Amino acid sequence: MEKWSRFNYQPCLPLGKEGARVTGCREHIELSRKAAGEGMVLLKNEGSLLPFCKGQKLAVFGKAAVDYVKGGGGSGDVTVAYTRNLMEGLRIKEQEGKVEVFWPAAGYYEKEIQAQYAKGYCPGMTLEPEVPEELLGQARAFTDTAVVTICRYSGEGWDRKSIADKAFAGGDQSLARLSASIFENGDFCLTEAEKQMVEKVKKTFPYVAVVLNVGGMIDTSWFKEDKSLSAVLMAWQGGIEGGLAAADILCGDVNPSGKLTDTFAQTLEDYPSSEGFHESLDYVNYEEDVYVGYRYFESFSQAKAKVIYPFGYGLSYTEFEICTKNISVENDQVRVKAEVTNLGLRPGKEVVQVYYSAPQGKLGKPALELGAFQKTRLLAAGETQTMILTFSVSDMASFDDLGKVSKSAYVLEGGSYSFYVGNSAENLEKWREDWVLNGDRIVSQLTSKSAPYKLPKRLTGDGSYEMLPEREQIQEPLGLPKQDMDRLEGMEPADRGYGQMLREEIEKSGKHMLSEVAEGKITLDTFMEQLSDEDLAHLLGGQPNTGVANTYGMGNLREYGIPNVMTADGPAGLRIRPQCRVYTTAWPCATMLACTWNTELVEQVGAAGASEVKENNIGIWLTPAMNIHRSPLCGRNFEYYSEDPLVAGKMGAAMVRGIQSQHVAASVKHFACNNKESNRKDSDSRVSERALREIYLKGFEIVVKESDPWTIMSSYNLVNGHRASESWDLLTGILREEWGFKGIVTTDWWTRGEHYKEAKAGNDIKMGCGYPDRLLMAMERELITREEIAICARRILEMILKLAH
Ligand code: BGC
Repeated sequence: MEKWSRFNYQPCLPLGKEGARVTGCREHIELSRKAAGEGMVLLKNEGSLLPFCKGQKLAVFGKAAVDYVKGGGGSGDVTVAYTRNLMEGLRIKEQEGKVEVFWPAAGYYEKEIQAQYAKGYCPGMTLEPEVPEELLGQARAFTDTAVVTICRYSGEGWDRKSIADKAFAGGDQSLARLSASIFENGDFCLTEAEKQMVEKVKKTFPYVAVVLNVGGMIDTSWFKEDKSLSAVLMAWQGGIEGGLAAADILCGDVNPSGKLTDTFAQTLEDYPSSEGFHESLDYVNYEEDVYVGYRYFESFSQAKAKVIYPFGYGLSYTEFEICTKNISVENDQVRVKAEVTNLGLRPGKEVVQVYYSAPQGKLGKPALELGAFQKTRLLAAGETQTMILTFSVSDMASFDDLGKVSKSAYVLEGGSYSFYVGNSAENLEKWREDWVLNGDRIVSQLTSKSAPYKLPKRLTGDGSYEMLPEREQIQEPLGLPKQDMDRLEGMEPADRGYGQMLREEIEKSGKHMLSEVAEGKITLDTFMEQLSDEDLAHLLGGQPNTGVANTYGMGNLREYGIPNVMTADGPAGLRIRPQCRVYTTAWPCATMLACTWNTELVEQVGAAGASEVKENNIGIWLTPAMNIHRSPLCGRNFEYYSEDPLVAGKMGAAMVRGIQSQHVAASVKHFACNNKESNRKDSDSRVSERALREIYLKGFEIVVKESDPWTIMSSYNLVNGHRASESWDLLTGILREEWGFKGIVTTDWWTRGEHYKEAKAGNDIKMGCGYPDRLLMAMERELITREEIAICARRILEMILKLAH
């Protein structure tokens, strides 16, 4: 079969059975709905208001009932044929005879929202209209039960804000201003208009359920203790069928089994990252160190008191009992045997979570860390499942960056290691026996990499701050004329003009073709010998779009038979040029996928999403995104999985396995510490080596070691004074030499890094376009060698060879 035929020829041949297209197909949409159903988290259900009884009469309030947010904005957006909002979901349930809806309220919101769209308000960023008293009265005459719904939208290039508008420095100012005007005094918190709407509904209806259509952490204090708001469903941003998936849960067709992958605290200020989040445009000091999320809240009693909904939490319509049968430590493996029994009357799923607590020792440790998790199958009423969960003893090691035990080593400090099993970071049972380690054990001796220069202090295990040494950073001379950074932004890759050459002409030229390498006729070394310096420099940059793609390609040396392999975003679906009118499946946002705690399901989503990528002749899917939810304010949290690196790593690995099962390259992004959007291209994330390795890099490490991603995307930001894309420590030292990464590293699109420095650091390709002229100039000035450029080019060709089938 002709190699790379999908990339070389444009007809997007359907991949489905009997010539059907898989892109946006019914099966994928059903899978998206299923994943959404499993990721929704039931936060509250007093008096078992949910699920609604058959025939329940309902009135729905809040513009989010129709202004549905399927996912966040920016490169993670997806062009879909439709989205189903909550009202449309409930309409289907009404047709099935499950509920009866008071439609005039829906009609009112529809009219209001359409009028706002006509004025230019974007979906998800409309204003909450005032509920007319008359409508409320009519609705109350219809029913005693109301649903209140709230939505939030955020996106790439700007961060979220709290009550006080101190955010929005840097980033996309127009979006930021738009958002600021819309959210008036709310985003994390409710706006005044939303508060009034909730108040009115509460006063009018004895029974009120809340549905939250949001992509990240928000204030939950307004309903936690409020008796008049009996039930709350965290419905997230659920993709194309999110409204129907929420209706499935409200009506009891699906039993909720999602669990939070973040800690929900009382106020934004309760998160240790909030104070310094907007301190500067130039840097962020990660002073809370490894105490991120539940690692912070569970470690300090004043913080623990601030938790409203803990990490791992989520209710079900049934009750489960988790009974730990045994925990043993043998051959350096912790093995947990637990039985989960469904004690209630409905079938449901539960998540078993195993945490450990390492001795405080000299380094100090979080009180709890997740060691393993596993979701049950759908358990019938009364059914029991035996679960075996394992993790390695070395997973409990800490990185000693200051040499308190052994400098730059992962160490297990001597003492007692306790284990806890349960279904949230707060609902745990301590196992009766600890594992005792006599004396300290060095798990792996590494070297110092990406150490901070200017992080003044960090939080320690006893709640005090430790002062950190300041190092002087010496700026290396560039060696080239300075480039005009603003000019680079959004620049299109230039075509070398070989695209039009006929295949026959190319073959006649007597050159070796890449297909000869794919067919095992010649080695890649032989193939590469014929490439000129210009050819190599060309390969190190992005290539013009073809077909439906809008994020450019890689390769594209037609005279050597190197295809132009297109990339496309993710992660919530295949994003292509909207003008093409090819509609794809919008999957639930990444946080919601993680809240399923179901790695098999996420793998299925990865495979289905990648088959759409492949059908559209695209070879590289810029998915998954897996930065840590360090702060609720990060505008792109919806694209990321969790505050916990194990959850992020396991979800990312599942996604990559699914994607690459379709012979599509996954691109794991953004490596690393892209935890803030404002000024993301120049902001310096200052973080200790310990927090870097235990929190911010750990998820990527899991993905690399468990699922062999073919590409990784470095991030825009700086990490400890060096651009991530120019960081040898991160991209070669840690990623390749320590973890054994075999794929290519791409920059994020139009980084401000210098191309030759990126290549030398191990960043193989510069996207959206490269700067071959500057690379060649750097070569002439002996700043980079042909051999160094060839190393990157070779990796790019190896990746393209993986796509030959
Ligand atoms: C985003 C990436 C994305 C790329 C291509 C960048 O702005 O940060 O996540 O993959 O654009 O669209």
